Amino acid sequence: MGGTLNRNQLNHFVSVEALTNEEVLSLIQRSEELKNGATPIRLHHEDKYAVNLFFENSTRTHKSFEMAETKLGMKVIDFEPSLSSLSKGESLYDTVLTLSAIGLDVAVIRHSSQDFYQELIDSPSITCSIINGGDGASQHPSQCLLDLMTIYEEFGYFENLKIAIVGDLTHSRVARSNMQMLKRLGATIFFSGPLEWYDDSFNQYGQNVPLDDLIDKVDVVMLLRVQHERHETYGNFSKTAYLNRYGLNEERERKMLDHAIIMHPAPVNRGVELQGSLVECARSRIVTQMTNGVYTRMAILEAVLEK
Ligand code: CP
Repeated sequence: MGGTLNRNQLNHFVSVEALTNEEVLSLIQRSEELKNGATPIRLHHEDKYAVNLFFENSTRTHKSFEMAETKLGMKVIDFEPSLSSLSKGESLYDTVLTLSAIGLDVAVIRHSSQDFYQELIDSPSITCSIINGGDGASQHPSQCLLDLMTIYEEFGYFENLKIAIVGDLTHSRVARSNMQMLKRLGATIFFSGPLEWYDDSFNQYGQNVPLDDLIDKVDVVMLLRVQHERHETYGNFSKTAYLNRYGLNEERERKMLDHAIIMHPAPVNRGVELQGSLVECARSRIVTQMTNGVYTRMAILEAVLEK
């Protein structure tokens, strides 16, 4: 994590792998406190400047970071990649070097390149904190943290929870971050979905099982968006065929354990990963995930501002 200091003090927030379990649990606890109305560590951060650089489209991550920055009293500097000197060929490195030099404290970045952040956090010239808002199909650490918060809020523990991660696994940075952390925190992971979107490297985290063999046994069904932007099709299936074979329809939902919950990082392809009527059903936590995203991002920002 680019050099961790004390509790809730981080130089950067770029990957969940580099966080200890204690740091993860501490950030979840802080997110809960903030959700329950706790005062931010420093009441005002008006001397702190944030910039959000999104090179891939985003609604939730971009706007909830902006909301979190605003709630903490930070100043948010506008940045639109197409209007910047990136269009003249300036590199990401030189762009962030510039933003750091002019006084930005935190840069939240989403980029299609895997590990884009490495050269930024390795540079002695870049002094702002880097937060990874998603790098290609590799990691989505703030989504992971908000997912963990949502699960912890529901169950109060991770040990031995049975969690099914279902769908477009190979293209999903959410799945990669979540399988690593959930396994480390003691949950039992199952995977399901089209075999062409499964990679044997996932075997170290869990077992690949047909959804119908899992649906009445797991505590959490975590559905993944089919990543249109990273491939062209639904595999060999129509949307309806995908839903019926790999998705969560009402018939499967009725078989879920009474206490089991549905999660999805969103945006949702309604009628593909899950039937539209289930997005806001009683056991869905999809809207809660969005709300929790603001508080986890406040906790992340606090941790890097307190470094
Ligand atoms: N879950 C998620 O990352 O959504 P956005 O792409 O809208 O940020």
